[in-house]
Amino acid sequence: MPFPSVTLVAGDIGTGKTTFCNQFLCEGARSGERGMFFAIFGGPTEWTHKFTSTYEFVRPDYFEERIRYVDLGEAVEDASVAGDVLRPMENALDGFKPRRVAIDNSIVLEDVLKDDYRRFLLKLSALLKSKGVAALITGEACKDTPYPSRAAHVADGVILLHNTEVNLVRRRSLEIVKMSGTSHLSGKHAVDISTRGLTVYPGL
Ligand SMILES: Nc1ncnc2c1ncn2[C@@H]1O[C@H](COP(=O)(O)OP(=O)(O)O)[C@@H](O)[C@H]1O
Ligand SMILES: [Mg+2]
Repeated sequence: MPFPSVTLVAGDIGTGKTTFCNQFLCEGARSGERGMFFAIFGGPTEWTHKFTSTYEFVRPDYFEERIRYVDLGEAVEDASVAGDVLRPMENALDGFKPRRVAIDNSIVLEDVLKDDYRRFLLKLSALLKSKGVAALITGEACKDTPYPSRAAHVADGVILLHNTEVNLVRRRSLEIVKMSGTSHLSGKHAVDISTRGLTVYPGL
């Protein structure tokens, strides 16, 4: 993923969005890059749960030093305009100066910010770019589109995660819908989620 960039990771519940984010930040931490995880809702429990989990790529010593968790739950709860969420985000970014950022899960903000959501996305994208980070934003697929289209508009890349039933068997796959500025394998690729996180099998 290029710096700076904003990539939307979209998919239904349980397709591996949060795992993808954790893996992305841990991958950076492994090579010394700082990472910041913004939880829009769901609170620290989900994150803590992830990190006491059995994922092999998670190392407890990444915490605080290399990967910082920011719970935006309270800010989101009281938010009425874009700035109410963007201000604490900018403060956290300036304080820690991460190289990689994950924002999980943006879909709640759509309900909270209503008319200001589009402006939030535009300003968020500009903020992330100005800090020079590679960022992931997760979002759940909507009824009519396979991904949240408003978030897709501000993203340089869109990755879709699927978990579909084929002949009574659940099959996971990953699809790169767009990725500006890089060459990539198009089409769907088989995915497996294990203690190693997401493993992609290109071409399958
Ligand atoms: N510690 C773990 N080891 C192996 N697989 C896990 C672990 N935690 C979660 N998973 C698998 O990853 C899948 C995706 O979970 P998650 O990343 O939370 O999805 P999403 O954020 O899209 O809702 C889960 O359905 C589960 O099968
Ligand atoms: Mg999740």
